[in-house]
Amino acid sequence: MSEHSTPPATTTQTGTPVASDAHSLTAGADGATVLHDRYLVEKLAQFNRERIPERIVHAKGGGAFGELVITSDVSQYTRAAVFQPGATTETLLRFSSVAGEMGSPDTWRDVRGFALKFYTTEGNLDIVGNNTPVFFIRDAIKFPDFIHSQKRLPGSGLRNADMQWDFWTLSPESAHQVTYLMGDRGLPKSWRHVNGYGSHTYQWINAEGERFWVKYHFIARQGVETIEAAEAEAIAGADADFYRRDLYEAIERGDHPTWDVEVQVMPYDDAKTYRFNPFDLTKVWPHADYPRIPVGHFTLNRNPQNHFAEIEQAAFSPANQVPGTDISPDKMLMARVFSYPDAQRYRVGTNYNQIPVNAPHAAPVHNYSQDGAQRHGFNAPSTPVYAPNSFGGPHADPSRAAEGSWANDGELVRTAATLHAEDSDFGQAGTLYREVFTDEARARFLVTLSGQAHAITIDEIRDRFFQYWTNVDPALGAALHAAYQAHVNSDAPQQPEADGSADGSADDEVAA
Ligand code: HEM
Repeated sequence: MSEHSTPPATTTQTGTPVASDAHSLTAGADGATVLHDRYLVEKLAQFNRERIPERIVHAKGGGAFGELVITSDVSQYTRAAVFQPGATTETLLRFSSVAGEMGSPDTWRDVRGFALKFYTTEGNLDIVGNNTPVFFIRDAIKFPDFIHSQKRLPGSGLRNADMQWDFWTLSPESAHQVTYLMGDRGLPKSWRHVNGYGSHTYQWINAEGERFWVKYHFIARQGVETIEAAEAEAIAGADADFYRRDLYEAIERGDHPTWDVEVQVMPYDDAKTYRFNPFDLTKVWPHADYPRIPVGHFTLNRNPQNHFAEIEQAAFSPANQVPGTDISPDKMLMARVFSYPDAQRYRVGTNYNQIPVNAPHAAPVHNYSQDGAQRHGFNAPSTPVYAPNSFGGPHADPSRAAEGSWANDGELVRTAATLHAEDSDFGQAGTLYREVFTDEARARFLVTLSGQAHAITIDEIRDRFFQYWTNVDPALGAALHAAYQAHVNSDAPQQPEADGSADGSADDEVAA
């Protein structure tokens, strides 16, 4: 907060100076408050309307602005202006937790959201991902059920391990992501120390119209670092805003975090025969198959001036693509391009894209939408209000119609709808556990899962829990079961021992 030598006069919302900041208008010095104190009425009414609905998921978060710089030449894969060599683009990144409410502690175990908005010269490009390269489900119809199971029981208002594990164990496609979540990556040291992933497969289109499948990776130059469960719990009690504070203070002191932007690129036709369904969000593409190609980097160097205006009202959507980028036939992604703008019309308002943080900063907007609550931008009075018209109004670019045309490729669409040679719900989860986690990470994982086994109160769900982890890795399932039995059979509760450092792997999505 800064001091003013001569403070400005307090005014009503319509600019009229008011008589007092501290006393209502009353009938006599200490008498009854009078209703015609317009400033009092306005102040109370305005206050009552300060809140908008929190995001249905990812409610707790924080973010900052920065700049994307392209240092490599990937023009053979995409014609998007934002990815051409030397391009620099204003960027917004919002981090978040998924399940907790707006005031929830940052260090509760969770997946972390990693939502990017690039204000490109061809319109805004949003990549709305997480700090993990996969997701819990592969069909959007399960999304509300999944989220309900992670939030609170309607009766008690409490979170509940039984419903979490009931959902996960009845949804075996969740195993890969739950392995990430219960592993070190569920407890980052800070937002600065997470990698980001677009997670889905997206499409790139080059200047010749050739199409490629891409996965985005954002690799933290700060390294991936994590904390242990006991520390996370202590921080949650002491400072619920630990990550938000860390990011804000780092940027204030000039310690600007940077992420390298890399992509895995799959030729269009490979998708038809690849050993994993490349459009299945529960799978990674092993780097041995498709190595990461450098693109550039972005740095966060500017804190928001107003958290509500610029972060709470920020509206990210996978629907925001630009010429040269597009979605793929991943059915989760298709549902997301509907869901986000729908949520934002409700959460922020019909004209949410006119709010400065959401409006394109480097591209003009011309279309035939008009009016609606709180509209303030408008076309010149002489602009036609309908299309087609004879008066030089905006007209669409027919060349854009060719992009995204995988929808007309029956073989490709069938490819996206079928199991591929090595598809299984548990395979990549097992590889992550056995081949990517270190011995120390595996030990911590066992402790975490043992705690979860105790939190489950319904035998049938616990039995399914043991089977789920046995499917991921038989030895893991047996160890968990043994640890649980040892605890049940003894008076003194025992858990498997953990040892080793808290370092996570910066590169642990390389499941073979
Ligand atoms: C079909 C599945 C999904 C649905 C229906 C869905 C829906 C939503 C909705 C409605 C919001 C709140 C938007 C707002 O109010 O601004 C949201 C936020 C978010 N979702 Fe999803 N989501 C899905 C899957 C995913 C996946 C797979 C990822 C990551 C790969 C993801 C990452 C995020 C992030 C990071 C945010 C917060 C964005 C921000 O910072 O404002 N979601 N999601």
